[in-house]
Amino acid sequence: MIYIAIDGPAGSGKSSVASGLARKLGFRHLNTGNIYRMVALLWLRSNQPDFSQDFFEMIKAKHFSVVDDAILMDGEIHEDDLRTLEVGKVVSKVAEIPEIREIITDKSREIVKSGNFVVEGRDIGTVVLPDAFLKIFLTASVEERAKRRYRELVSKNLEANFEDIIDEIRQRDSIDSSREVAPLKPAADAVLVLTDGLSLEEVIEKIYVLYTERMKSVKD
Ligand code: CDP
Repeated sequence: MIYIAIDGPAGSGKSSVASGLARKLGFRHLNTGNIYRMVALLWLRSNQPDFSQDFFEMIKAKHFSVVDDAILMDGEIHEDDLRTLEVGKVVSKVAEIPEIREIITDKSREIVKSGNFVVEGRDIGTVVLPDAFLKIFLTASVEERAKRRYRELVSKNLEANFEDIIDEIRQRDSIDSSREVAPLKPAADAVLVLTDGLSLEEVIEKIYVLYTERMKSVKD
């Protein structure tokens, strides 16, 4: 199997880039962030202040799969519930829990056994798939990332306040980069791609070229 890992901070454009790149290469696409968001949603719905063994067992028993760009939980899509500000506010806290990371890492590795995948997240190149064929670390300035998230929410008719989005992104960047388990950082062998001022197509093309060059160097 061939895996391309795309890691990077909140709103760096990973999802659109990973989705477009997967389509161009005929690969499948796994957005691990959506599994973390799904678990965050389950936790919010559980109305429990802490994470219990029962909660971990409940998550373990769930079946996650991928259809196109969507994550299915026990065969159902919950996409629209995952991108809300409510989930955005707690997801990084949920993602700090080592037991949860272990469960999601195992489930992600299981999903990608079924084909060639573009896998996006925070720790794909460092923890989930350290042997990935190509590792990309996508990044952009906070303002650029907040603008993108704002436009995404507005296009989906969801509530959007620019200042709130900037705050949320700063807060998640800080928690994601400083947590003890699997913090957000580029793998030593990742290629850094700064996306400020680049169109989606330009970013996809850049990574596509990196991929074909690597393919050639492996074959030579
Ligand atoms: O789309 P965006 O970059 O804003 O975030 P996401 O990919 O939906 O991920 C939501 C949150 O899940 C991140 O802020 C991380 O706290 C967590 N996450 C993680 O810890 N590890 C991953 N592999 C993916 C997401």
